Amino acid sequence: QKVLYTEETDSTNTWAKRLAEEGSPSGTLAVAERQTQGKGRRGKVWSSPEGTSVYMTLLLRPEILPQYAAPLTLVMGLSVAQALSETLGLPAGIKWPNDVVVSGKKICGILTEMNAQIDYVEYLVIGTGINVNTQEFPDEIKEVATSAAVQLGHIVSRAELAAAVIRCFEKNYEIYLESCSLKGLLEDYREKMINVDREVKVMGPGEVFEGVAKGINPAGELLVERPNGSVTAVSGGEVSV
Ligand code: BTN
Repeated sequence: QKVLYTEETDSTNTWAKRLAEEGSPSGTLAVAERQTQGKGRRGKVWSSPEGTSVYMTLLLRPEILPQYAAPLTLVMGLSVAQALSETLGLPAGIKWPNDVVVSGKKICGILTEMNAQIDYVEYLVIGTGINVNTQEFPDEIKEVATSAAVQLGHIVSRAELAAAVIRCFEKNYEIYLESCSLKGLLEDYREKMINVDREVKVMGPGEVFEGVAKGINPAGELLVERPNGSVTAVSGGEVSV
């Protein structure tokens, strides 16, 4: 595996996409000390100060159909939660689909971007931001964000944590590719999932309802139980958790 490191970049996701366009192989990892244009989901900014966080993006070229690529974001979320609990003893949970939380606060966010044709994945970049030694957060996220150091009361090695995440991901990625589904990872994922038995609101095409989250299916969709007991699988864009 090729690991590329830089002091500063716009966004490790954007950098990894440039590397992909230049022909870098699957497994290339782009790591930066700080980002000038860190990106969150839904067009948000991901605050990316120097020295306290992990900002890294993994470039993958899986030989799978594009519709099987989306759950790889969940595979990364699971890997981060496993690494935090196995190497640091932090009780990390997953807020479906892919926020990693400790004590109810967000410690990691993941942003996946894909370049695909209808039946072919050109490449996929999975960007992971982990608050490791962050002590102070911007006002907008102060109440909802945490870091490993805040939780543990001491500084943590970012390199060791990043390496542990990649080790966990490699193992989980292999399991994922066996069936192109989360089948072999469902138990691990569900065990860490904090949404189970919580109320959620679904805004599907032509239909709005409230229900209770029960778990996920092998495609990574949330299973929501309706008041009448029937269960519907919903995707990320359709549900507020
Ligand atoms: C979220 O909104 O929760 C997703 C945040 C993803 C942040 C990471 S930091 C490394 C990579 N580069 C980016 O610009 N974003 C992702």
